[in-house]
Amino acid sequence: MTTSRIYLSRPHVSLRERELLLDAFDSNWVAPLGPHVDAFEAETAAYIGRGYGCALSSGTAAIHLGLKLLGVGEGDEVFVSTLTFSGSVNPICYLGARPVLIDSESETWNMDPNLLESALKERAAKGSLPKAIVPVDLYGQCCRWDEIADICARYDVPILEDSAEAQGASYKGRRAGQFGRVSILSFNGNKIVTTSGGGMLLTDDESAARKVRFWATQSRDPAPYYQHSELGYNYRMSNLSAAVGRGQLEWIDERIARRREIFGFYKKALDDMPGVSLMEEPDRNEWFSTKWLTCILVDPEKFGADREAIRLALAADNIEARPIWKPMHLQPFFAGCDRAISGVADGIFRDGLCLPSCSDMSDEDLERVVKVIRGCRTS
Ligand SMILES: Cc1ncc(COP(=O)(O)O)c(C=O)c1O
Repeated sequence: MTTSRIYLSRPHVSLRERELLLDAFDSNWVAPLGPHVDAFEAETAAYIGRGYGCALSSGTAAIHLGLKLLGVGEGDEVFVSTLTFSGSVNPICYLGARPVLIDSESETWNMDPNLLESALKERAAKGSLPKAIVPVDLYGQCCRWDEIADICARYDVPILEDSAEAQGASYKGRRAGQFGRVSILSFNGNKIVTTSGGGMLLTDDESAARKVRFWATQSRDPAPYYQHSELGYNYRMSNLSAAVGRGQLEWIDERIARRREIFGFYKKALDDMPGVSLMEEPDRNEWFSTKWLTCILVDPEKFGADREAIRLALAADNIEARPIWKPMHLQPFFAGCDRAISGVADGIFRDGLCLPSCSDMSDEDLERVVKVIRGCRTS
């Protein structure tokens, strides 16, 4: 039996990242900031199609400063997708604001525009609109941006787009990261572009970018000594991390192509299995998903085993798979949050599984995963 570990989404690095990292090291720009940070910001902003990028220590830090930029503060409400990672929601609480959790719709798995609209309508009637909306582009797939942007514009509430999982995705020809007044990316270890750990805030407003970089370096006033007139944060990315990120960015299109190929492999191999369906692009002409992770839904009645049985069978064969994010409204910490829930995210969490999707997986690895899944049906 093959026992080499198959990971869910591990970093995929090349000699180019090594070369840039050594360049940073050899030039002694190992301390925070430096030329690779400036270049990584400019190259990433250009890739996404935004004016400015601010390289930060994490995607969570980028959401924190993005919300602050949008004026979120004590007692404000912020609407956010409930089907997401906690990093989308925690920063709302850092600012003393209150998350309001909005359910998904079943096609994109992202924020349901209808639920968003009725929640905004209800708040407008009470005269207390949220300070910001945080829709998440989940698992490499964009939201229904036309509808969401139109609704938010009508109520005049700004969007912070959490595209942590969707670098390189697009909707109607526009890249993820273009849809928020402020958008963010994550470069943590499991993302297609990783800097080991890191994130970026994207904006078209030069003064906003300057402000974010100022806050992220402890709000250090321009004075010969350390002077601070505002609360600061230690959130900047290091030059070493940025060097790795620049190398990763050079490969992004190849990496996405391989992830999409992996999705295609799983689709072909599992298509004839009753009770298994994949997270698909709702319309190939409008959505381009990076397939960061291939996600499946398992109907236990039709398949003959549930998603947990599949996950455990994969784990027994040294293969890492992960349930879909546990929705925030089911998390003990967010139990008290207001919400607009239809049950869609509950169903996706109950039946959903993320399959290994590393861009360096071989076809033999993929065959091994599929064999275990098929075996669950007959066991
Ligand atoms: C949807 C989403 N938002 C935010 C984050 C936070 O990013 P980071 O881990 O870089 O802080 C992540 C993930 O890592 C994420 O998946």
